[in-house]
Amino acid sequence: MLQERKILLIIGGGIAAYKSLELLRLLRSAGAKVRVVLTSAGCEFVTPLSASSLSGDKVYTDLFSLTDEAEIGHIQLSRDADLVIVAPTTADLLAKIATGQADDLASTLLLATNKPILLAPAMNVRMWLHAATRRNVERAKLDGCFFIGPGEGSMACGDFGPGRMTEPLDILNAAANLMDRDLDKGSAAKSLPLEGKKVIVTSGPTHEPIDPVRFIANRSSGRQGHAIARAAAQAGADVVLVSGPVSIPPPVGVQLICVETAKEMLAAVQQSLPADVFIAAAAVADWRVERIEASKIKKDKNGLPVLKFIENPDILAEVAASGEARPPVVVGFAAETDGLLANAQAKLTKKACDLIVANDVGVGSDVMGGLDNIVHIISRDKVESWPRLSKDLVAEKLVRHISLLLSNGDK
Ligand code: CTP
Repeated sequence: MLQERKILLIIGGGIAAYKSLELLRLLRSAGAKVRVVLTSAGCEFVTPLSASSLSGDKVYTDLFSLTDEAEIGHIQLSRDADLVIVAPTTADLLAKIATGQADDLASTLLLATNKPILLAPAMNVRMWLHAATRRNVERAKLDGCFFIGPGEGSMACGDFGPGRMTEPLDILNAAANLMDRDLDKGSAAKSLPLEGKKVIVTSGPTHEPIDPVRFIANRSSGRQGHAIARAAAQAGADVVLVSGPVSIPPPVGVQLICVETAKEMLAAVQQSLPADVFIAAAAVADWRVERIEASKIKKDKNGLPVLKFIENPDILAEVAASGEARPPVVVGFAAETDGLLANAQAKLTKKACDLIVANDVGVGSDVMGGLDNIVHIISRDKVESWPRLSKDLVAEKLVRHISLLLSNGDK
């Protein structure tokens, strides 16, 4: 997977550092050459000796080591690698990355490198959710860092929530995927794969009103749809993002149309056609309330209210059946709690689309509202299963997959 690849693994100071030794072992078994940098806090959790035994190389800890500088200067150490992985990325390391501090070896290397950086955060849930960390994550993303995780679960400190470092095998897969992407970039010889193409993406939930103050919604965050819109724009496409109500910012360089309901989403999509690609990533409400009350429904009026639902238009199915106006590539999502592949395959046929991106949103899945996704790409004749990846990486891989379909004319 990573034959001949050079990885710089920075191990930060958190309890998850013990998992980084397993990551180091996996990277080496995948064929990578790994150099390890331990922060001073990292040294409190794993020893340079254990990291060095596993990497088969010297471990670097000190910015001002005369011996190290004589052997390999710190700038060269940062540039020699094909990929830099920071695992665990502690709150402190993330803050240094986001603000460009360089007061020790790890932060100096991160500032000096010209290679992709993959961050695997691990911290207490409150630290992860703190406004400062939220800002630092957004800043680091804007600066081009890639994230994997954190996952959700119980933590060493006894708290529960997001903040656990992603499992080493999933970090390995994300690293391999980033390396593939770099190869593709090289072979694409600078021409952008979706240059001159128009892509429409739906994203987020829809809100279906009940009365002036209440509505029906779902847990969709819009992260996957927004990431797809960003990846398509970065691939050179002219992107229209039709988004339901979300709390994340729109990607730079896309045309954003904000809607609330499924009917508004359908109208916005239809107005934006024709297009080369339509990607329905929104979690559209299947039903809406038949009669929206003009005034707030009062508690004490006629006992418990009874809501009568009617079906919403199916945007994906309508676009796929739009005859002449049908985009050459139509992609749907299937969020399933049971019978994932069978239900997704049935959806591909029923909604007449070219690809279905299937994901499991059943009990225990952290996909809806989370940062990572585990998807299966279903076409008429095959199923491709991808490992757990961040939603940004799923988006990039999907956009590459769609570009190939468009250029081969093969769906
Ligand atoms: N979709 C849509 N319009 C709808 C419902 C769904 O465009 N009214 C799209 C979604 O954006 C997604 C796909 O259809 O790409 C599948 O949505 P999903 O909710 O998983 O399937 P449903 O068709 O709603 O079927 P079910 O609820 O029975 O699973």
